[in-house]
Amino acid sequence: MSHATALLQLRSYRASDFDALHQIDQACFPPGVSYSREELAEFIGHRNSSTWVAEVEGEIAGFLVAGREPQRVGHIITIDVVACWRRRGVGSALMDAAEDWASRQQLRLICLETAEDNAPAQTFYAGRGYEKLRMIDRYYSNGVAAWVMVKWLGKQSKVES
Ligand SMILES: CC(C)(COP(=O)(O)OP(=O)(O)OC[C@H]1O[C@@H](n2cnc3c(N)ncnc32)[C@H](O)[C@@H]1OP(=O)(O)O)[C@@H](O)C(=O)NCCC(=O)NCCS
Repeated sequence: MSHATALLQLRSYRASDFDALHQIDQACFPPGVSYSREELAEFIGHRNSSTWVAEVEGEIAGFLVAGREPQRVGHIITIDVVACWRRRGVGSALMDAAEDWASRQQLRLICLETAEDNAPAQTFYAGRGYEKLRMIDRYYSNGVAAWVMVKWLGKQSKVES
């Protein structure tokens, strides 16, 4: 599969993207894991969140919503790459943007939740240095558990637990 990076452009979210992003989210996740319109609108619109849209030749190939939480913690709320654009570097480019954003704000770590049965995502995150921290039973409304995965940023060492 060819790499999309040369043609790929990341830009900030625009209100006119909303319907397309919601459709992509519905296609990316099963019921109970995907977001309702209201949930997605709330996450994108939150004052502490940022949304990046990946475009290839004017077509939306994916997006990522990240939030800033207390204690200098970043949170990947969702990352969604359209199926036909996967394995071409789109997800990596979106994560690079979110991690740069977190580093510029001197966040200590980035955390995320991913479904226990989402092996591709776990492989994707592990390849970027995210570690499985703990599992939350029945995290999603469809009953599936989630792994909390964490990446420590910069030279910050882990907090003693
Ligand atoms: C997970 C996801 C975001 C990855 O996006 P992507 O654009 O395909 O990722 P990239 O092309 O940048 O992949 C980077 C590396 O991650 C790993 N990877 C990505 N998808 C993988 C898969 N399906 N199986 C195994 N490894 C995978 C590979 O090492 C890959 O490098 P390679 O293609 O050179 O081998 C995408 O599959 C997706 O949107 N899935 C549906 C939604 C989802 O599950 N989101 C995460 C929820 S927490």
